[in-house]
Amino acid sequence: MSIKKSHFDLAEIEKSTIDHYENNAESFRVGTQDHDVSQNIEAFLRALPKEKSLDILDLGCGPGRDICVFKSLGHKPIGLDGSKEFCKIAFQQSSCPTLNQQFLSLDLEDHSLDGVFANASLFHVPSQELPRVLGELHCALRNGGILFSSNPRGDAEGWQGQRYGHYMELEASEFYLKQSGFIIIDHFYRPSGKPRDQQPWLAIVSQRQDLKT
Ligand SMILES: C[S@@+](CC[C@H](N)C(=O)[O-])C[C@H]1O[C@@H](n2cnc3c(N)ncnc32)[C@H](O)[C@@H]1O
Repeated sequence: MSIKKSHFDLAEIEKSTIDHYENNAESFRVGTQDHDVSQNIEAFLRALPKEKSLDILDLGCGPGRDICVFKSLGHKPIGLDGSKEFCKIAFQQSSCPTLNQQFLSLDLEDHSLDGVFANASLFHVPSQELPRVLGELHCALRNGGILFSSNPRGDAEGWQGQRYGHYMELEASEFYLKQSGFIIIDHFYRPSGKPRDQQPWLAIVSQRQDLKT
């Protein structure tokens, strides 16, 4: 049985999780700057039109490692993060716009994006709020737009230290994505080439479908 969280719980979940990143921003930057997520970036871009400069939102961009890659490939990335410090670092690194917004109160322009790249970020959204947040990403994407997400997999929800996480396997992820108007077009487990029990990450490429009215 899922327990409905009150507005207060949700605010506390979001604040505590973001505070953790804010307070550890520099060590997180140093610890993750060399993470190789090229497989994720390639899978995301493969699903999008070629030879076009794409409007990409890096949702939960952290210190901006991946925004720099998208920019270097000729795209027009925008970062978004709840941590002010990460937004500052990401802007310093990339000179790309960075929005200091929270996942539970996004303010995005409708039909303004070709793709949303959510690397290791959407799992911080409590299950209760996930359909609404995915619905907002659906609205922000253009027809046929792509949502990439990579999250630690599992079947649990709750606190890990100061951070809150919702961990899903493929079936549960598909349930939420479908409900919000996305179809899965690709998925893979990471790191690649390992037995499944040594692949803690699930990456999903999904495409915006028109919702029936
Ligand atoms: C695990 S980090 C991933 C950072 C980056 N995408 C990467 O791959 O290195 C999760 C990111 O999500 C951001 N975040 C977590 N919860 C958030 C929320 N509720 N609203 C906005 N950003 C949030 C954190 O500040 C952090 O930058």
